[in-house]
This record gives sequence, structure tokens and C-alpha cells, in this order.
Amino acid sequence: MTIQFSTQIFSQADISNPKQRKSSLATLLAQATDCLVLAYAKTDLDALAGSKPKTGLLAELDQLLGGAITHANLLGDLDDKQASTCILRAEKSWVSSGVKAKRVLLVGLGDLHLVGARSLISYSKVARAALKQLSGGSIESALWFIPSFALGHRSEFIAEEVRLTIQYAGDQAYRFGVRQPTMKFKAKDKADTFKKLVFAGNEACSKELRAAVAQGIAMVEGMHLAKDLGNLPPNICTPTYLGKTAQGLAKKVGLKVEVLGRKQIEALGMGSFLSVTQGSDTPPQFIVMRHQGGKVGDAPIVLVGKGITFDTGGISLKPGEAMDEMKYDMCGAASVIGTMYAIGLMKLKKNVIGVVPTCENMPSGQATRPGDIVKSMSGQTIEILNTDAEGRLILCDALTYVERFKPKAVIDVATLTGACIIALGHVHSGVFSDDEDLVNALTKAGHASLDTVWRLPLDAAYHEQLKSNFADVANIGGRPAGSVTAACFLSRFTEKYKWAHLDIAGTAWKSGAAKGSTGRPVPLLVNFLLEQH
Ligand code: BES
Ligand code: MN
Ligand code: ZN
Repeated sequence: MTIQFSTQIFSQADISNPKQRKSSLATLLAQATDCLVLAYAKTDLDALAGSKPKTGLLAELDQLLGGAITHANLLGDLDDKQASTCILRAEKSWVSSGVKAKRVLLVGLGDLHLVGARSLISYSKVARAALKQLSGGSIESALWFIPSFALGHRSEFIAEEVRLTIQYAGDQAYRFGVRQPTMKFKAKDKADTFKKLVFAGNEACSKELRAAVAQGIAMVEGMHLAKDLGNLPPNICTPTYLGKTAQGLAKKVGLKVEVLGRKQIEALGMGSFLSVTQGSDTPPQFIVMRHQGGKVGDAPIVLVGKGITFDTGGISLKPGEAMDEMKYDMCGAASVIGTMYAIGLMKLKKNVIGVVPTCENMPSGQATRPGDIVKSMSGQTIEILNTDAEGRLILCDALTYVERFKPKAVIDVATLTGACIIALGHVHSGVFSDDEDLVNALTKAGHASLDTVWRLPLDAAYHEQLKSNFADVANIGGRPAGSVTAACFLSRFTEKYKWAHLDIAGTAWKSGAAKGSTGRPVPLLVNFLLEQH
């Protein structure tokens, strides 16, 4: 179903050390695997082809493999470009020289002197290219040699690389719906043959390596759950389904889960949240998930996810084109649930609470009208000028609710505005916060997971656009800076704690031929939580 990830530690093996390299390579080649994955730099290829005495990784490998690399190079199969790949298949001579690997996949790191060649982005390209070669054929298992280990990188880089590799391999192995018991959605959706990825390391990095593999596995589980929830059709992935999923996590990883129904939501005075669910026959839910990994009494980090399981726009109805994609309007919720699952699996030693207000936004005779005024849990009244700006209406009550936890920080995650896609496209999620430390930590976590954010403003001047003649605040601020005014609206409910808002409208799913949930920003949130102290 998914890939099995593990580590194998070779005492003393150190490919970065030229003196030990040949014996280390011989050790790696002697492992029984369908494919040994090795990375080489442009200099290794230059050395192999040059006239000087042959040194470097490829030359030494060539000697161990009976000239197979020289041969491949003569045929033009080796390239000095970053992310180029070449597969060598076992020959008789390999066996007699003690090589047990059935294949060797060589992947190019390119010219390491170029700017950025040793960055995580470069590594990600190399890793993706290699993983692509491992998938879709007859390779079942691979032994993966970590380039940073060879390049003598700092050790935290190893963790980032390993987690990223697992994230990409998990991504590649993901098949929609196979983990959800509700129905078989696609008759022919074959699992990949590739099932087992082993990270090779030495004593020096074994601790980081083991920890990073465990974290990576947990993160992929969380991402798969987030993807499934996003991709599930809106007739199945209802607020009740999200509640049941959260309760399932209570059993699986020991989260404490509470799911409040309409009566309890009413009792809390969440008039804003209730105004959104009013037009729908499907009952709303308010989900609270607690992970108690830290000391009792330690202030928790709170994650709040927008859980609109379908957004028609309500009476301010959306146009019909691509409206099916509004099933993804619960991706904030999915990422919060996925992150809670991941940190539960990791047994993260921190207190984290996930909160999900969830309902549908439907038009009906009962539905909220443009012009209606409702009272939020905070006491502020809201004039609803557009029922399609519903995300902020459910989030504001959740943001008031979480005050009771006296949080260390609150991060809300929402597919909040189409305007965010116009501003940032599908590359970065938007981040909004007045807290520099929080912005910096989220930016850093984004870089470490390549699940990046870009800061947008929250200045007082934008608040002007939310003025209402009839209530404390309007729920829309017109077309200019639509993502900013949405964030400004939320900020009115967050005065009691440190807060950041993530607008994931452009990053949570892909449209077109590759339509599907991306699992973002689970990697960002998990990396952020890992780095909190
Ligand atoms: N869920 C949408 C935002 C959205 C739209 C996300 C398209 C991804 C793709 C949100 O509820 C919404 O409809 N926002 C409106 C706000 C407007 C009425 C002020 C929007 O962005 O058009
Ligand atoms: Mn909407
Ligand atoms: Zn919405």
C-alpha cells in the first residue's frame, strides 16, 4: 500500500573520505537489494573520463563493477547534469566479485561549485529524479545512499533530506482512497511495485538518520490522510466523516478527541459559525483534538483548520464551472487532522491542540441572506454582505473558542480566498501575522520541508475596507487585497494570543489533469512543530 522505510547502518563506511571510499562502496554493493542508489558529482565524471590516474567515486565504482561505468559513459549514458540518471544492471562479473546489488542507479548531483548546488532544492531535484526511476518498473527495494553524507554537510541537513525523500517517495506511492473503508472508488488503480526504501548511513549519522526516518514516516502518514480527506467526494467526506476520522485517531495514536454537535455549538454562542451551516441539511461539527506530549500545564500550540466540506457560495452562489473543486474547501481541516496524526505517531514531546469547525455552505430557504447580521461568539456583530466569504465566519468563532487553552501560539489554516491564488499562485502559501518570531519560524519550516510560505501584510489601513454601516464589521472588504482583508477580519478575533494565518487556497490542491490534494501544508506544520522549543 505504501512504502516501507528503514535504515541500515554500516560501521565505518564513509564515502566522503577518499581513503575509505572504495571499501565503503564495496560494502554497499555487497548488500542484497534490487537497486543501490548512488549520487555522483560532475567532478567524479570528469575524473573518470580524464587521462590522469583514475580517482573519485565513479572511477572506484568502475573498478568494483568490472568497467561497467566506463562502458556506460562510452555509450553516452552518463551526464554531468544535475538530476540525470543512469541504471546499470547486474552482469555475471559483478556476482563473482561479490556484488549482490541487482542494479546500480547513478544519479547526478551536477556541478557542486555552482551556486545553490548544495541546497535542499537541488537535493530535491536529485531525489525526485532517482525516485522516478525506482517507480513503475520491476524494482521492489532500494538502498539509498544520502548525498549530504557524502558531501560532508551539516547534520541537520541529513534530517531534512531524509524527511524530504520519504515525503516524495510517499507522494509517488499515494493512491486515492485505498485507505478509506467507505467504497472502492477506482476499479483499476494498481499499487506500485516499489515497496521498500532503505537509507544507508554510518555510525556518525545513525542517530539523526533513525530519528529522521521515523519522523518522515509519520509525516507521510499524516499527508496521506490529509490527501484522502481532501480527495474524498463531498457526499462522503461530510462534517460527520471528519469527526469520525478524528475519533479514529483517538484510538490509533491516543489523541483526546471531542466532537461537538449543533446543540453544543449553539450553547457556545457561535452565531457566526451557525449562520454558515444554516442552509445545509448536513449537521455541523466542532472537532477538538488534543495531543498531550509535553508537560501538564505547558501552554499548547493550537492549530485551527477551515472545514467547509463543500462551498457552493450559499445564496451568493458560485459559478458552475469547476465547482466540484470546492470539495477541497476543507483542506485546512484535513491538514490539521493530518498533522495531529503525524505528531501522534511521532510521539512529539509537546502539547498541541487541533481545532476544526466544519460544515457545508449551501443555498436553501433556510440559508443566510446577504445583508443578514449575526453575532459571533466574541460578541462582535457581523454584517454578511457575501455568503461566499464563509470561511472567516466559521474560523472567527473557532478563534474565540481557543482562547480557553491560553495558547502559546495559534495558527489557522484555510483555503480562504481566491485572491491568494492571484497573489501567490500555487507556489507559496500566504502567511499573515504581526508576530515576527512566528513568521520567521514558519518561513524556516517552509524552507526545511520545501512547503513554503510568503508573507503578506496585515496593516491597519486595510481594516478600513471592513467597515459596516450596520454592524461591528462586514465580512468582505471588496476586491482590492482580498486575501489581506480576509486575514484582517480574522485578526479581530485573535487579540488574546500570538497568531498566524495561512491561506492555502493555491497550495492545497492541484487542478487540471493532475487534479488532487497535495497534502500541503502538513510538511510545513510538522516541521514547524518539530522546531518549537
Ligand atoms: N473557498 C473559497 C476560496 C477559494 C476560491 C479557494 C477558489 C480556492 C479556490 C472562499 O470561501 C471564497 O469563496 N472566497 C471568496 C471571498 C469573496 C466573496 C470575498 C473568493 O475568494 O472569491
Ligand atoms: Mn466561499
Ligand atoms: Zn470557502
